[in-house]
Amino acid sequence: MSNRWLHERKGEHYYNKAKEEGYRSRSAFKLKQIHSKFKVFENAKNVLDLGAAPGGWLQVASEEIMDEDGLVLGVDLKEIKPIYADNVATIVGDIRDLEVQQEVLGAFFGKADIIMSDMAPDVMGQWDVDQYRQIHLARIALKLCDKLLKGDGWFIVKIFQGGEHIKYIRELKDMFKYVKNFKPQASRSRSSERYIIARHLRKDRKLPAEFRPEILVEEEEDDEPIPGDQLFFEETS
Ligand SMILES: C[S@@+](CC[C@H](N)C(=O)[O-])C[C@H]1O[C@@H](n2cnc3c(N)ncnc32)[C@H](O)[C@@H]1O
Repeated sequence: MSNRWLHERKGEHYYNKAKEEGYRSRSAFKLKQIHSKFKVFENAKNVLDLGAAPGGWLQVASEEIMDEDGLVLGVDLKEIKPIYADNVATIVGDIRDLEVQQEVLGAFFGKADIIMSDMAPDVMGQWDVDQYRQIHLARIALKLCDKLLKGDGWFIVKIFQGGEHIKYIRELKDMFKYVKNFKPQASRSRSSERYIIARHLRKDRKLPAEFRPEILVEEEEDDEPIPGDQLFFEETS
């Protein structure tokens, strides 16, 4: 049995399951598996879903939120077909745009219990560029955590593995006390995607350098890999 065959069967399995159970994407099962492992939705009320189209994660979050005043806000470049649930709202926009970020921050009464990002740019086929663009989106999600996430809220973020993700993990550790790497079963084993589950914002947290207003002079970059950095955090499965 080849790996490729297994890989395709797994994709097909979750594709069919999503169709049968009325979910808009196979990704819905990734979020369900994240929840089974980390119980992220327990007592959650406000959820921000970045890169929400076509809406699989929105459906799962909407089902899991028990508070009748809860809100699940989805943002995407693409239009999201209406989800007929009282607790779901959507914004069409580019999260790199500061006005869209302001709109998101203004949409919640109070802070968010969960910020999750499944964002990925359209891949152009040049891996280092695609990976850098994907991590850039993950950095913007981190910036929103600084402003919007509750101190003990959950941050769930997709990353593409490659050189840049190691730097991003360091940035996450500057922001959160708890940082775990997770590969849900529903994620294709050959794909380089991973999900990071983080919690407990640090009081003395530091945003990634590009968002720190105090940095006016270009700093020298230390690009030397730290020995053992690949094992920077434990992988949970
Ligand atoms: C893998 S899909 C998300 C699937 C979704 N979690 C679901 O379950 O249906 C990634 C999404 O990220 C969105 N995206 C990419 N760049 C974005 C940006 N700059 N702002 C907002 N959304 C973006 C894409 O349009 C795409 O819909």
